Amino acid sequence: MSAPRKRPEELRSHRWFGPDDLRSFGHRSRTKQMGFDSEDFSGKPVIGILNTWSDLNTCHTHFRERVEQVKRGVYQAGGFPVELPVLSLSEQFMKPTSMFYRNLTAMEVEETLRCHPIDGAVLMGGCDKTVPALLMGAFTMDLPCLFLPAGPMLKGRWRTETLGSGSDVWKYWAERCAGKLSCDAWQELEDGIARSPGTCMTMGTASTMACVVEALGFILPGAATLPAVHSAHARMAAQCGRRSVEMVWQDVKPSTLLTRESFLNAITTLMAIGGSTNAIVHLIAMAGRAGLKLSLTDFDDIARTTPVLANLRPAGKYLMEDFHDAGGVPALLGRLRDRLHLECRTVSGQTLGEVLEGAEVFGEEVIVPRESPLSSEGGIAVLHGNLAPDGCVIKPTAMEPRFLRHTGPALVFRNYPDLKARIDDPDLPVTADTVIVLQNAGPIGAPGMPEWGMLPIPKKLLQAGVRDMVRISDARMSGTSYGACVLHLAPESAIGGPLALVQDGDQIELDVPGRRLHWHVPAEEIDRRRAAWKPAEPRFARGYGRLFVEEITQANEGCDFKFLHHGPPTPEPEIF
Ligand code: FES
Repeated sequence: MSAPRKRPEELRSHRWFGPDDLRSFGHRSRTKQMGFDSEDFSGKPVIGILNTWSDLNTCHTHFRERVEQVKRGVYQAGGFPVELPVLSLSEQFMKPTSMFYRNLTAMEVEETLRCHPIDGAVLMGGCDKTVPALLMGAFTMDLPCLFLPAGPMLKGRWRTETLGSGSDVWKYWAERCAGKLSCDAWQELEDGIARSPGTCMTMGTASTMACVVEALGFILPGAATLPAVHSAHARMAAQCGRRSVEMVWQDVKPSTLLTRESFLNAITTLMAIGGSTNAIVHLIAMAGRAGLKLSLTDFDDIARTTPVLANLRPAGKYLMEDFHDAGGVPALLGRLRDRLHLECRTVSGQTLGEVLEGAEVFGEEVIVPRESPLSSEGGIAVLHGNLAPDGCVIKPTAMEPRFLRHTGPALVFRNYPDLKARIDDPDLPVTADTVIVLQNAGPIGAPGMPEWGMLPIPKKLLQAGVRDMVRISDARMSGTSYGACVLHLAPESAIGGPLALVQDGDQIELDVPGRRLHWHVPAEEIDRRRAAWKPAEPRFARGYGRLFVEEITQANEGCDFKFLHHGPPTPEPEIF
C-alpha cells in the first residue's frame, strides 16, 4: 500500500499562496515578480534549500553549482525550489571557534523555516558545525527535510606522500618545530594539502558527522562519503531535490524518523569508524532537539562492544575517498547488522535494514572484517573521576598505548594565552611524564569550547623525540587530531569545576581501561583551594556573547542553549 499523500490545500505554503485575500495576492504577485507563473508554484511543495555557501567556507566552494542541481531535482519532481542562505560555519576562519556560533545557525535555520512559506527542506552543509547546526534547527521545526553532505575533498599530495587534512598538518608541524623540515618543504605541503572543494578528507569531524547522519537516516544511502568533485555528487544533489518533494507529499517529518534507536545506530557508527569526539557533543544536542536524551554512558556502553572497522586516518591508514570506493557507510554497517536497529526508517523511504540489503565491501583493507578489527572496542572512551564528575572523553585508538595507564605531575596553564606564552620556554619544568593541563578552555571559559585540546608538546621535548604526552583540558579536539588528550572535562573550570583547582605538581592518574581520571589531592586541600577560588569577571556585557554564556550547557549536555531545548511547539506565524 502506498503512503498517504497530502492534498495541495494541505501544504503549509498554501497558507501563503492559496487564499483569495490581500496578503496572498502580495505573495503571488511578488513571486511572479521573479518571473514565475502560477503554474510554477501553485499547489506545489515549496522546498527551501538552506545553503551554507560562503566565500570564507572553502569546504563549500561547490555549493553554488550544487544548489542548481538540487533545484533541477525539485522541478523534475513537481516542486518549487527556493534558495535560502543561512550563516555558514567556517571551521578554518571563524574565531574564537565555529562552535561558538553552532547554536546561532541552528536558531537561524529554525526561524528561517518557520517564517517562510516552506513545506520541506534540503539542508546543504558539511564543514563540521554546519551539520549539527542545520539538523538541530530542522529537527525543532519538524518539516520534511534531508541533508545534502558537501563530501570530502580529494586526497592531499606532497612529493611521494598522500596527505590527510589536519592529521598531516599536526604531524609535519611537529617535525618543523623539531627542526626536521625545511621552509620549502613546509611551503610545498601548504600547496598540496587541500586540492579541491569539499570537507577534510580524514575521519575528522566533518566526515564523522556525515557518516553518523547517514546512519541516523538523514542522508541518502551511500552519499555521506561521496567525494565533493565526483560527478555522482552532482547527481546526488538532484536526487535530494527529487526526494525532498516526495517527502513533503508523504509527510515524512523528522519526528516520524527519529527514535532513541536511530541515535543508538548513529553512536554505533561513530564507534565503528573511530570517529571524532566532537560527535558526542553534537549527537547529544541533536537528540535533545528531538526530545530524546542521550548520556555519556550510552556512548561508553556502545564503545565497549563495538569494534573499529574503518581503517581511516587519524586512527588508521586510509582516507575518505578510499572509504567511499570500499562501499562507504552501507558496506561498513552491513558488517554490523547484528548491532543495529534495522527497523529504523530513513529519508530514502527504506528502513536501515532495507538499505543494508546487498551492501558489499570492496576493500577489505579499508573496511576490515569483524574478525580482525583495528580495535575490538570503539574509538572513544568516557572517563569519570574527581577531576571530571560529569565525565570527559579520550580517543584511545589515536594515542600511544603506553599512556592508557599513566600517572604524572601536572603542569598547569591558566588559559590559552598563558600556554602560548610559556610552552616553548627552554626552562619549562617538563618531562615526557608530565601531565599538561589547560584551564578555561571550555564552553564558557574560552568561550565556545575551541579545538585546543591537542595541546602542543613543548619544543624541547619535540626536539628530544617526544611525540605524545598526556594532556588534559575542558576543550574539544579536532577530529583530525590525535594523542593522549583527555577532553570535554565537565563541569568546566570557568564555572568552578575541579579542573580550576589543579596546581603544578599535583599527581594525576589516567586509567583508560578503568575509565577513570583521578586527581591525587586530599579532600581537605581541595576544599581549601575551592574556598579561595574566584570566577573570572564576565567577558561579555551585551550581545550574542552574553546570550551564549548565560544559556550554554556543559559538554556532557550537548552545549545547546537552554532556551532552545525541546519543549512545547512554537506556534506557526499568523498571516495577517
Ligand atoms: Fe571544513 Fe575541515 S575545515 S571540514
